[in-house]
Amino acid sequence: MPVTSEIFKAHKQDAKVFIETGSYVGDGIQAAVEAGFETIYSIEFYDNRVGRCRARFKDVACVKVIQGNSGEALAELLKHINEPILFWLDAHYDAYVPESDNPKILTEPQPVLQELEAIKNHSIKTHTILIDDRRIFIGDSPVWHNTVESQIVDKLKEINPEYEITNIDSACFPKDIILAKITTKGANWLYDWYGHNITSQHGEDGVIEKIFQVIKQLNKVCVEFDAMNGIVWKNTYNLIMNHGWRSVQIEMRDDYFKDLIKTYKDKHVACIKEVVLPTNLERLLTQSNVPQDFDLLSIDVDGIDYELFESIKTFKPQVILLECDLPHENLIKAVALAKTKGYELIAVTGVNAIFVKRDLYPLFEIKNNSVKNYKVWTESRQFKFGLELQ
Ligand SMILES: C[S@@+](CC[C@H](N)C(=O)[O-])C[C@H]1O[C@@H](n2cnc3c(N)ncnc32)[C@H](O)[C@@H]1O
Repeated sequence: MPVTSEIFKAHKQDAKVFIETGSYVGDGIQAAVEAGFETIYSIEFYDNRVGRCRARFKDVACVKVIQGNSGEALAELLKHINEPILFWLDAHYDAYVPESDNPKILTEPQPVLQELEAIKNHSIKTHTILIDDRRIFIGDSPVWHNTVESQIVDKLKEINPEYEITNIDSACFPKDIILAKITTKGANWLYDWYGHNITSQHGEDGVIEKIFQVIKQLNKVCVEFDAMNGIVWKNTYNLIMNHGWRSVQIEMRDDYFKDLIKTYKDKHVACIKEVVLPTNLERLLTQSNVPQDFDLLSIDVDGIDYELFESIKTFKPQVILLECDLPHENLIKAVALAKTKGYELIAVTGVNAIFVKRDLYPLFEIKNNSVKNYKVWTESRQFKFGLELQ
């Protein structure tokens, strides 16, 4: 049987943060320290156990022991973490808690489903999750019977239907750990796992951020037209304001243009008042000194989007976001055009298709990007990320 630190090491992937529920005497914490995590949180209900673990790791700065009921405490903790985590869910009723030692006794159901609900509400849907003591979820002991393995598996699939769920050996028992891990990526992974709005409409801000974590930014230059005031339902505002990108923003209406200038007054943004047409787009980009391989082009003009995309010949942005008024016939047409221009579809968000240059496509590890694999837009999806700008 593997020792626990080896199990943590084997499933660490790119996680620097480790979270355990149920500290007990701190052996899980010790294994996480040995596995090399940079930050280790452990949540324990009983005061005396919290005290013992805090004393044991008082000289280890990366270890934080939190007192609380694990479901609630985990939900609170996750509000402050925005990176991959390895979870070790190991809090459960303890038949050996002597009442005299612990005036508070847990009477609630197993916390694991509540813990998984907290993980489900986190913005990242790809954390690796280890759930210890699988045998108590498949046994018939009355102490444990209130949660069964199938409920846990259903909850894991709610977090991410792409989880591969297997049972692996723990340090003490065969096949006693439930392991949920992402091994393959479906067509919708960027949208499903990373979609969120800052000013975008259908999760594009989160998708775009993730895209530029996957590929190298060449020049941090983006172009958007029908820029309006630069904010409402815009896909480049976040890059400019929060990530220091430079930009060309084009808007034709007087009133919007005045607001656009105000929005970006202290930023590296060239605001152009112009009607963008297939006949002038390349000229406008050239006159604005946009590099030919600029990072992102967002085409969202509610009309001649396809024609504008078609008109781009000499410029080769790394990423193109194209509004194509789904349903699928328009998406199919846009994908066909993108292919002739050397681009591949990597995401569909609301009414937008997002393409990358073909040589970058393998970096996204999408098994099959045929149009039929992308979720069709339905009205209810509009509410997935909330309508912050209403
Ligand atoms: C099996 S032990 C944990 C062992 C430890 N994780 C390790 O790897 O050595 C279970 C621990 O979970 C704690 N626990 C049970 N229910 C809990 C809850 N709802 N919230 C926090 N801790 C809980 C118990 O007090 C006990 O210390």
